[in-house]
Amino acid sequence: MIRSVVRGTGSYLPEKLLTNSELATMVETSDEWIVQRTGISERHIAAEGQFTSDLAVEAATRALADAGFGPDDIDLIIVATATPDYTFPATAVIVQEKLGIHQGAAFDVQAVCTGFVYALSTADALLRAGNGKRALVIGAETFSRILDWNDRTTCVLFGDGAGAVVLEAQEQPGGNDDRGVLTSHLRSDGRHKNKLFVDGGVSSTRTAGHLRMEGREVFKYAVGMITDVIMAAFAATGTGPDDIDWFVPHQANQRIIDASARKLEIAESKVVSTVKYHGNTSAASIPLALDVARKDGRIQEGDLVLLEAMGGGFTWGSALVRW
Ligand code: ACO
Repeated sequence: MIRSVVRGTGSYLPEKLLTNSELATMVETSDEWIVQRTGISERHIAAEGQFTSDLAVEAATRALADAGFGPDDIDLIIVATATPDYTFPATAVIVQEKLGIHQGAAFDVQAVCTGFVYALSTADALLRAGNGKRALVIGAETFSRILDWNDRTTCVLFGDGAGAVVLEAQEQPGGNDDRGVLTSHLRSDGRHKNKLFVDGGVSSTRTAGHLRMEGREVFKYAVGMITDVIMAAFAATGTGPDDIDWFVPHQANQRIIDASARKLEIAESKVVSTVKYHGNTSAASIPLALDVARKDGRIQEGDLVLLEAMGGGFTWGSALVRW
């Protein structure tokens, strides 16, 4: 059977670092409060004039180099982002042009923090259906542009960045030992749309707006939703926590990551966490963490890697990938 096998990863973080202590000079907060509540110490912020597509192109270029592929090898680009360069064209099309790719299809996916899991699942479905041979799946965000820098309850949580993976359709024997995306599960429930949203948009206010969040409410739902969708991945493949080599969750908050791992009985040593250094980079957080764990030698070929995310909407999802 055809599987979408990960052939390469890449990531990019803007140069400018914003530490908790610097934030404490901007709003009434402290390093201690932020670390204790979220595990975040610092985040990267895109430079003036540096767009989401620029971050995406850097990450994609590194992923292509890692895979040993050039522009002619890619026939599908999906960018997961809630902070596109423009209303249209899609950021993916801008990325396509900047990478010198002129064939295939490119489009964006908008599922906020779950965006990368949605994009991965969509790319996997298209590749397995024969709609392309190799895909770039990118998560890229410039959340710094939609933060209210006077609101201490949200501005301390997010950062900018991008991560990318290259998928290739390959014939595999069939079964859990196959390389590639083994299963993915996507969910959403719009009844929660007002708990985490941006209060502007083209069709409503004609402004970009700012991120608004009921933090406690999000926290209340997060672990349950994450657990639900991971149990679905386990049930679909007949696997369990002991079979997982690496757990790479969306990096929103260390407390959510720890509580999810604990509830699912996934050993702490298997959890990949980058939230301390990246903050919450929304759709970029999973591919950023994947790239970190691959480049430092943790994720190896043959490893079973569990991904999950939850975010605005609410949307949530999981994917189980044999590296
Ligand atoms: N610095 C100092 N004090 C602060 C700050 C800050 N940055 N932000 C809020 N406070 C204050 C509040 O004003 C409040 O003060 P009060 O008691 O005098 O009213 C107090 O701290 C406690 O506020 P809470 O909101 O109850 O703090 P909580 O312990 O819930 O932590 C947090 C807030 C970190 C946002 C938490 O609710 C959380 O992690 N929620 C999940 C949200 C999340 O991760 N969202 C990311 C996007 S969704 C996703 O990706 C899954």
